[in-house]
Amino acid sequence: MRKLWLVPVLLLCASLTACSSGNGTSTTGTSNSATEADTQGAETEKDAATDGAAQGGIPVAGACWYNFADTFISNARQTLLNVAKADGRIEVIDADSQNDVGTQTSNMNNMFTKGVDYLVLNNINTGAISEICDQIKEEGCYGIFANTDTPSDEDFAKNDKLYSVASRAPESGTIMGEAVVKYWKEHPEADRNGNGKLDYVMLLGIQGHYDTEVRSEYSVKAIQDAGIEVNQIGGELICEYNRAKAQEAVAALLANYSEDIDCVLACNDDMALGAIEALKAGGFFKDAGTYLPVCGVDATAVGCDAVREGTLLTTALNNPVTLAKAIYKVMALTKEGTEVTTESLGIAGTEVEGHRVWISYKAINADNVDEANYDITNTSLE
Ligand code: GAL
Repeated sequence: MRKLWLVPVLLLCASLTACSSGNGTSTTGTSNSATEADTQGAETEKDAATDGAAQGGIPVAGACWYNFADTFISNARQTLLNVAKADGRIEVIDADSQNDVGTQTSNMNNMFTKGVDYLVLNNINTGAISEICDQIKEEGCYGIFANTDTPSDEDFAKNDKLYSVASRAPESGTIMGEAVVKYWKEHPEADRNGNGKLDYVMLLGIQGHYDTEVRSEYSVKAIQDAGIEVNQIGGELICEYNRAKAQEAVAALLANYSEDIDCVLACNDDMALGAIEALKAGGFFKDAGTYLPVCGVDATAVGCDAVREGTLLTTALNNPVTLAKAIYKVMALTKEGTEVTTESLGIAGTEVEGHRVWISYKAINADNVDEANYDITNTSLE
């Protein structure tokens, strides 16, 4: 049984002054500083929403995103709010975990306390997936793991109301690796120190996160599969999908390895852009002779600008609009009791396997960068 929550009068007053009315949260835009007010705003609006649901209003989904300030996540988040507002069948509220497991847990518990019908979780507590699944089952709401490690088969077997929506991370790793292979084969000078090995720097996202693990593994695998010997420079550089952290990490490496690095593989575009900044400051990207291949994932607007500028060699389109629409559609289908299948979901680029929805990536480079367009204001559910 889910618990009922009594709204403290003061909090309600705060929500009335802080929040706008209407469907969806009042959290504004994609703020860079995910403030308490953002989270609070989302939660307080839920007070009204919960009351509505309890009185036969529309179902409410509580989305806990790992970090509102993350470029990819902010696009997915905004699209989900836009789609919910336009469609009107399910209200979406959200909260920012601020890249902190403790904050995620507390946001999740707040959503449960308020009796949400759906919990959408962009989980960063990757060591506790089964425990979270058990908690969702106990609360009785639907659980949708979004853009993160999918729960195990055992977890799915225990709960019919569990789903996951994520991109096929192996594809994104392979896209990066294959781009580097192509570059290496076409440019004999790419072996900068002439050691016969491809000396690469790997920039990792959040430790243990599905995309981090799989993208790093499959990018290197694609290079090795092409018969190229590799050498990792700098070891495990955990930069948490963050541009500034990646910039700092690469700048530090340049002090010792400026003449050795042959390429940078980044588990997302933000980190690739941080690496490019550091490389520019270190004398790279001045001309053809100082070019260094850097690869990323997401095909964000800024990532695509770097592709056009000729710095980012390749990126893999990770479509936040598709992610958000697939999440919403799973909720809408389950609400009306329709089985979620590839056909019933009906969103281009998605495939349903059991209760797992997979989204495909697309390789983006200078030749097709204009195909990476997506529109977060497009709310059609096709
Ligand atoms: C990835 C994305 C990263 C980051 C991460 C957070 O799919 O490529 O940029 O947003 O998700 O879950």
